[in-house]
Amino acid sequence: MPALRTITGEFRYEIIRQIYEGGMGVVYEALQHGGRGFRKRVAIKVIRERFASQPDFLANFAGEARLVADLIHTNIVQTYHFSEFDGACFICMELIRGVNLEQFLQRLHLSGRKLPVELAVFIVSRIARGLAYAHAKTDGTGTPLGIVHRDINPKNILIAFEGDVKLTDFGVAKARGFLTSKEGEEVAGKPEYMSPEQADFQVTDRRSDLFSVGIVLSQLLTSQNVFRGPNADESRQRVLCLPIPDFGRLAPEIEPKLNQILQRTLERDLSRRYQTADELLYDLEFFIYHRGYGPTNETLGRFIRELFREESQPKANPNRGGTVKLGRKLRSEGGSQVIPKSKSKST
Ligand SMILES: Nc1ncnc2c1ncn2[C@@H]1O[C@H](COP(=O)(O)OP(=O)(O)O)[C@@H](O)[C@H]1O
Ligand SMILES: [Mg+2]
Repeated sequence: MPALRTITGEFRYEIIRQIYEGGMGVVYEALQHGGRGFRKRVAIKVIRERFASQPDFLANFAGEARLVADLIHTNIVQTYHFSEFDGACFICMELIRGVNLEQFLQRLHLSGRKLPVELAVFIVSRIARGLAYAHAKTDGTGTPLGIVHRDINPKNILIAFEGDVKLTDFGVAKARGFLTSKEGEEVAGKPEYMSPEQADFQVTDRRSDLFSVGIVLSQLLTSQNVFRGPNADESRQRVLCLPIPDFGRLAPEIEPKLNQILQRTLERDLSRRYQTADELLYDLEFFIYHRGYGPTNETLGRFIRELFREESQPKANPNRGGTVKLGRKLRSEGGSQVIPKSKSKST
């Protein structure tokens, strides 16, 4: 047999159901079909045509997808594939059976339950772990890739019903900076989770992500985001100027040691903030494990399955072939839609 150089095969994605419809695009659960009946469940994010048609955005989005393609870590949603079809583009990624942290917080609120402090710190420690890996990622020659997430917020943190915590949307924020709305304005992220340097339109580095992580932690512990104002401008102002509260006064179960960790993540002076996600990870893990046994994926899994009792049950045939509005760009086949590999231009 001659040396194997390239394998070109046929595969296609069959859309099963819509998971989420957001500003930038729609996330679907899909089946990736291979040879001889091989099937794998994946998630597909299709970027809206009006965005995918903006060349600056598309170039940047594709660039970021290339950058994060090799991020392979248990606390990061893995990217499998990026491609274009008929003017739209999509990312295929690992499918997480679970909810995002925003949905998790909403359900907690409705159920009247409180998230135990240890579980809150555990969730955030997993995010710090994923970030430590991504921030340190280098290319084949050992040169740092300089990856910064830039959009850490509860919607980009997924919790699987098994208790795994995964960060998604890596690098998308930067590409989003190249997006313009109909009025030609930039489409910005969520100001109430921005670092002060982001809110001030300065250049950001990985320490910016740590500030945002601090905001998420404070929200998990106090059930409120102190930086959220009545509108985007007010939120931005609060990120820039609001005196950082003593969190122990907002929630008595926050002990001084944990408040200290929060204060260090929320330092506006960059030289006083945690410098790396590793340092933050160490402090968070020390906090939950120094007494001995602490929270695990299993503990979190049990907690989330109780909270989402119905949703976390395995379904025999989850909405197979349900109606999914995708627009004319996807060919419809027998009630479900298919993105044919042959029509996609791989980038
Ligand atoms: N890989 C995935 N598996 C399962 N659900 C996902 C996945 N990716 C995204 N989602 C769901 O879609 C929501 C929005 O996804 P995201 O990619 O952050 O879109 P955007 O930020 O552009 O609105 C997430 O909060 C989550 O609920
Ligand atoms: Mg997102």
